[in-house]
Amino acid sequence: MNAHTSVPHATRPWWESGVVYQIYPRSFQDGNGDGVGDLEGIRQRLDHVADLGVDAIWLSPIFPSPMADFGYDVADYCGVADIFGDLDQFDALLEAVHERGLKLLLDFVPNHSSTEHPWFIESRSSRDNPKRDWYIWRDPAPDGGLPNNWTSDMGGPAWAFDAHTGQYYLHTFLTEQADLNWRNPEVRKAMTDVLRFWFDRGVDGFRIDVMWHCIKADGLPDNPVNPDFRPEMGEKFMVLQHHSANQPEVHQVAHSFRQIADEYGQRLLVGEICLPVEQLVRYYGDPDTPGVHLPFNFQLLDAPWNAQALARIITDYEAALPPGGWPNWVIGSHDAPRIAGRLGEAQARVAAMLVLTLRGTPTLYQGDELGIGRVTIPPDRIRDTQDLRQPGLGLGRDGSRTPMPWDDSLNAGFSATEPWLPLNDDWQARNVAAQGADPSSMLNFYRCLLRLRRDCKALNCGDFALLPGDHDVLTYERREDGQRLLIALNLTDQPRKLIIPADATVAERLLSTLTSIGGEGVLAPNEGVVLRLESK
Ligand code: GLC
Repeated sequence: MNAHTSVPHATRPWWESGVVYQIYPRSFQDGNGDGVGDLEGIRQRLDHVADLGVDAIWLSPIFPSPMADFGYDVADYCGVADIFGDLDQFDALLEAVHERGLKLLLDFVPNHSSTEHPWFIESRSSRDNPKRDWYIWRDPAPDGGLPNNWTSDMGGPAWAFDAHTGQYYLHTFLTEQADLNWRNPEVRKAMTDVLRFWFDRGVDGFRIDVMWHCIKADGLPDNPVNPDFRPEMGEKFMVLQHHSANQPEVHQVAHSFRQIADEYGQRLLVGEICLPVEQLVRYYGDPDTPGVHLPFNFQLLDAPWNAQALARIITDYEAALPPGGWPNWVIGSHDAPRIAGRLGEAQARVAAMLVLTLRGTPTLYQGDELGIGRVTIPPDRIRDTQDLRQPGLGLGRDGSRTPMPWDDSLNAGFSATEPWLPLNDDWQARNVAAQGADPSSMLNFYRCLLRLRRDCKALNCGDFALLPGDHDVLTYERREDGQRLLIALNLTDQPRKLIIPADATVAERLLSTLTSIGGEGVLAPNEGVVLRLESK
């Protein structure tokens, strides 16, 4: 048996047993009839979130922005974009969230600002401007070319030339997103003030955007060329980001964020970090210099869907966690293809059961609770710059950002006007109202699963152990205070044997991904179950 024990906490922080739900504000609910979602719309739809049974909402960026990267290009860290509302509406939303016993996390984007941020406008105004060094400026190479070989994650070089001052600035993402210089203490101070601004307003934490990028190697040396590069991967992969990301000093930055969060108490920091597990877990920090509470674990987003691969991912991840490091699992996001698009609806249910019964904090993404699948965006409706700048590579993220379908009325109840992105093709049947009325729907399955998770300590904070299962059945046990739950997930569309531990009998079948269940000792095709065991 491969067991992982949850360290008992006298007062367990809320996020350990909690579930995070990501809202993409442009696409949740339009409250003012302009085709784009906003804060007032989110406030109107909070009952959906509360009824679902999650604990916290993470909002993708809501700040003033030219929207070149839909808010991940921030032009004012302490305001609200007109298109989303204003600070009063934010306060009203926060209050309404708290009234429902939910928490609210914002998205903090420290690596880069919009080139329309006043800091960058000052910085680019002259070489001797006091804010020049707030960003990363370099002279052209001696031959007049780029300062180094770094490529942007959005394609093309990571450098843009500013003719006015004769230097290049670094942009890891779009040219409209200039990288801040985190080696400059004034930048650190200014960004610390941003965290305080929102903590003082009452937000419960942050998801921290691309935090492994924040510090670059001194001297900005060339990155090694990627020997395995193929054009269909996107230009980001032309070089290996050895010097442009994941530098040792980034952990001091993470620790400085944590110190502020700790001053306020019970505030959560989730770091967006896309690195192999052994490097990812370093972002938990050390006992003396803790980092973020939850470095996002994205492995399920593209895991091979078979029991052996999943078991390996879970085992390796659990083994890599530092003492006291709390696990977390992500099943969808505004950047990743929809899980139901990748696996089909039947296995998307199994995936939901997996993410909500593993040890650790799950992050769910809006619309996955309806099983929205792959949405094809007609070429003239593409909005994602990542897609527009490297067309034809399938890098577009619009398909995961389509508006929430609420009912079968005009524009699915999302907006009084045509939404900024098309709806899922099947919105007339696949929407919150229709699924709410159907006991066997994905939505009601999610609600049951979340209720079960909330009610069973074994699920939300118990120990975890993988068990042997039939071929392509992922089987594990969760235990707490004498309660034993067995989870068996049939990852195939064929019947499989249900193997029960020799020292137990099944006391109760608590939940199945299906309404018609397999017989005794059997899992139906695509069936996942949660069973209560009794020790013999
Ligand atoms: C993160 C965001 C993504 C954005 C990028 C640049 O990965 O999730 O949407 O494009 O950062 O800010």
